Amino acid sequence: MRLTRRKFIDSALSASAISALPIAFSSCSEPSRAGTAAPPHSLAPQFESPTDFAFPKGFFWGATTSSYQIEGAWNEDGKGESIWDRFTHTPGKIKNGDTGDVACDSYHRWPDDLALLRAVNLNSYRFSLSWPRIQPIGSGAQNVTGIDYYSRLVDALLEARIRPFVTLYHWDLPQALEDAGGWPLRDTASRFADYVQLAARALGDRVSDWTLFNEPNAFVDLGYLEGTHAPGRKSLLDFLRAAHVVNLAQGAGFRALKSVQPNARVGTTFWMSPCEPASDSAEDKLAAERAHAIVNTWFLDPALRGRYPDALAFFPEGAVGIRSGDMEKVRAPLDFIGINVYMRTIASAPTALERFTNTQQWLFPVKMRGGEVGPKTDMGWEVWPKALYDVIMRITRDYNRPVIEITESGCAYNDGLDASGEIHDGRRISYHQQYISAMARAMAEGADIRSYHAWSLMDNFEWAEGYGQRFGLTYVDFKTQQRTIKDSGRWFAKVAAQNRL
Ligand code: FCB
Repeated sequence: MRLTRRKFIDSALSASAISALPIAFSSCSEPSRAGTAAPPHSLAPQFESPTDFAFPKGFFWGATTSSYQIEGAWNEDGKGESIWDRFTHTPGKIKNGDTGDVACDSYHRWPDDLALLRAVNLNSYRFSLSWPRIQPIGSGAQNVTGIDYYSRLVDALLEARIRPFVTLYHWDLPQALEDAGGWPLRDTASRFADYVQLAARALGDRVSDWTLFNEPNAFVDLGYLEGTHAPGRKSLLDFLRAAHVVNLAQGAGFRALKSVQPNARVGTTFWMSPCEPASDSAEDKLAAERAHAIVNTWFLDPALRGRYPDALAFFPEGAVGIRSGDMEKVRAPLDFIGINVYMRTIASAPTALERFTNTQQWLFPVKMRGGEVGPKTDMGWEVWPKALYDVIMRITRDYNRPVIEITESGCAYNDGLDASGEIHDGRRISYHQQYISAMARAMAEGADIRSYHAWSLMDNFEWAEGYGQRFGLTYVDFKTQQRTIKDSGRWFAKVAAQNRL
């Protein structure tokens, strides 16, 4: 339930809208982002963090990408169709009709991308495996050519002394599994565990750091409830079931991976956002805690504590599809917690009338929106470095100082090439400088952080936004596929080389 990824609507939806819609549980809607003017950057007020900080030896400076967003080659060399292939090929789903058919063409140009990683002095590369590239229909036979692709990439990374940090699922489910029922179907958890084993057998001799899922809350919410991401379903029941099956898959995937590679470091990457009450009232404070439970810990507490956190006014066990023994199966003692942070969330309690007229708020009595004080990126997301600090400190406190990897942080600014062919993206430098500094403060206060990964190594296919939003440290000309390192990439390279802010 990715409540803050997209622009919020205050979800005081009318009763008629609610009965017409599958319940808009998450209160999110796609913003219109085109040409959003970004106000000049200023440091977020009232937050002090170090301007000079030496990071511990062995700290990982990295960048992240994902298979569907960069690879292209959607139907080459035996790759199966994914839900994102199907979704982008369906008219009207993606801005400008963009697809990931070619994307950054990394399937063919990965040596260029490796050169970028080296140029930015990175020692960690978080990338994802395309499940249908290595197991075309999500079960049964593997595709050796697909495995070879990742195998060569891993070898080259190791040779360049860059840690391969592999995400097993960054949203591109084999379409055949969606046709069979997708994530709401319990069997998908077993399919996932089999696939994880296959991947670990193929790469586990060289890859030691894995994340099972990228942002379970996001793909379950956007894909099964809001319908703005693949597979485009809009059903509260599917959403509730999918969330539980993903929790089962997390437990099963964890055990599957450890059965092949007992010493592997295995975590999940969660989209997190600190949830602040809109006022000091007891109602808003309770709403903020409920928001925290649904946004940040719905997929973490099952893994670490064997239970769902208190987010809902009542727990619809039957609808969720919980069977006896499940809350043992969802357990997964993750070796680290991967955290992606972009922004904060402001939560408030609905009025009694709103609750009575809105089924969503009956079950989940919370209204959420993004912050409005900091400058906005071109995506319309508030720049709020303290969000990173707050999330890290909350997780550090509540889970007994776990190992944390910052697996994504980044911003969309659509600066292009100037007359001399350079990209002066000072706002992105400012963003990373402030977020890294916020992370440094958390480390100084005791948080155990091992890495910071920029989203993204290069501009790429930004899901429903198509190619309209650029997050890269590197500019990609999608016509020629030429890559040009931006000013921010050069700045990042210095920080990484000096291991110091
Ligand atoms: C993250 C996703 C990533 C990208 C960035 C902008 O939540 O994991 O794929 O879309 O947002």
